[in-house]
Amino acid sequence: MPTTPAKPATTTAATTAPQLPAHPVLAGQKALVTGANSGIGRAVAIALGAAGADVAVNYVVGDAEAQEVVGEIRAKGVRAIALKADVSDEAAVEAMYAQMLREFGTIDVLVANAGLQRDSAFHQMTVAQWNTVLNVNLTGQFLCARAAVREFLRRGIVPSVSCSAGKIICMSSVHQTIPWAGHANYATSKGGVKLLMESLAQEVAPQRIRVNGIAPGAIRTPINTSAWDTKEAYDRLMTLVPYGRIGEPEDIARAAVWLASDHSDYVVGTTLYVDGGMTLYPGFATGG
Ligand code: BGC
Repeated sequence: MPTTPAKPATTTAATTAPQLPAHPVLAGQKALVTGANSGIGRAVAIALGAAGADVAVNYVVGDAEAQEVVGEIRAKGVRAIALKADVSDEAAVEAMYAQMLREFGTIDVLVANAGLQRDSAFHQMTVAQWNTVLNVNLTGQFLCARAAVREFLRRGIVPSVSCSAGKIICMSSVHQTIPWAGHANYATSKGGVKLLMESLAQEVAPQRIRVNGIAPGAIRTPINTSAWDTKEAYDRLMTLVPYGRIGEPEDIARAAVWLASDHSDYVVGTTLYVDGGMTLYPGFATGG
């Protein structure tokens, strides 16, 4: 007999579409963004703050950068704290959540964003390169999502804050779909994120917890500098992007704000591709 893994949220959920609150759309919500000291995470954390959320900025290296993000968020008139923790370390994640709950009282939004690449030809890939990527990109999302779900289930829905009992946004990649030679560890981790996100979404939707993913394409961040920082590299990259421009971190941040808000209340277990058309098989625009 199948087990029922999660208990019902404590508040009776509505059965019709919600009446949406006035802007800012995330007012009163508490958000945690992992890997928020740079790149996509940084932009997401700032955008959530601009949308009214109090934001915890997780990072593992770069204290000064994290403090700068905290400062930018506070300037929007909301609360922000920096939380240093390696998301692949269970004890560190538990300690981070304990601190978040002490400071903010609860969590309404998790953006599981922390991720890295350790690229290598497959025949030369070390176990360390493999494990580092899987541990941070996949196990890190599992650990952070598990802790968030536990708090969502404990608290349930607070109608004055949101019509759902919590939101998780898993930062994935176009490489959850597009195979990537020379990056087998990374593509494997993102393929895992896709099914982690979908399985969790299916499991906790009855408790009105919404889990979704964002699959960025080529975004101008430190993770892929070599793909855009020279004209030759940029032009080569554009052969893969029908829309004809690189993505900016803010392109992803806007999608994250929407997925975190009640505006996307009926969006459950979906991956939003924000990729300028990279997943449209651009090679087939003129061939096939
Ligand atoms: C990777 C980037 C890459 C992009 C498109 C991302 O997930 O982190 O390095 O440029 O996918 O290929």
